[in-house]
Amino acid sequence: MRQRLVVLISGSGTNLQSLLESLPNTEIPADVVAVGSDTMAPGLQHATDRSIPTFVVPLGDFSSREEWGVALGDALDSYQPDLIVLSGFMKLLPPSFVTRFAPRIINTHPAFLPEFPGAHAVRDAMEAGVSHSGASVIIVDEGVDTGEILAQRRVPVEVGDDEASLHDRIKVVERELLLEVLDTLCAKEGT
Ligand code: GAR
Repeated sequence: MRQRLVVLISGSGTNLQSLLESLPNTEIPADVVAVGSDTMAPGLQHATDRSIPTFVVPLGDFSSREEWGVALGDALDSYQPDLIVLSGFMKLLPPSFVTRFAPRIINTHPAFLPEFPGAHAVRDAMEAGVSHSGASVIIVDEGVDTGEILAQRRVPVEVGDDEASLHDRIKVVERELLLEVLDTLCAKEGT
């Protein structure tokens, strides 16, 4: 059976865009059936352009993160996801959300975890002056970028790099890793 993917984003969604472009050209038995966000993210347009439904569940509409997590989970469940892909989703999910969907939530992260977890991984790597950072795809658990590592690769920091140029090169690797992980996870479930 083909696997139903729901992708969550918060920003420009260039990783989402790449996934939407590349996935149909692979043998991976999976389709992006919806894209969600916590905000009116510009990246939602990549889904709309392909007639893929979108939904927005803002944290600020709820009195607690827990209540928001329930509403976000209900919105997700209406699309019956086999796998939830966080790619540039910048809000911390409450534990009850993680328990509801684990281990079917994965996250792309722009660092070689456990190095540089959190929301500013590329900036943190630059400020630390490392010669290499990296990209990771993990299973989401209740911690901040602490879940099982499914794939990761080093990315060198080059002379003259700034945060944006390094992040752009890391994203290229994130997109490759995400396809590798989807290939493994979806081939296993899709048989
Ligand atoms: C990606 O690098 C993603 O890994 C990162 O945000 C970027 C989104 O880029 N996520 C995190 O840092 C989560 N901690 P995009 O909106 O251009 O796809």
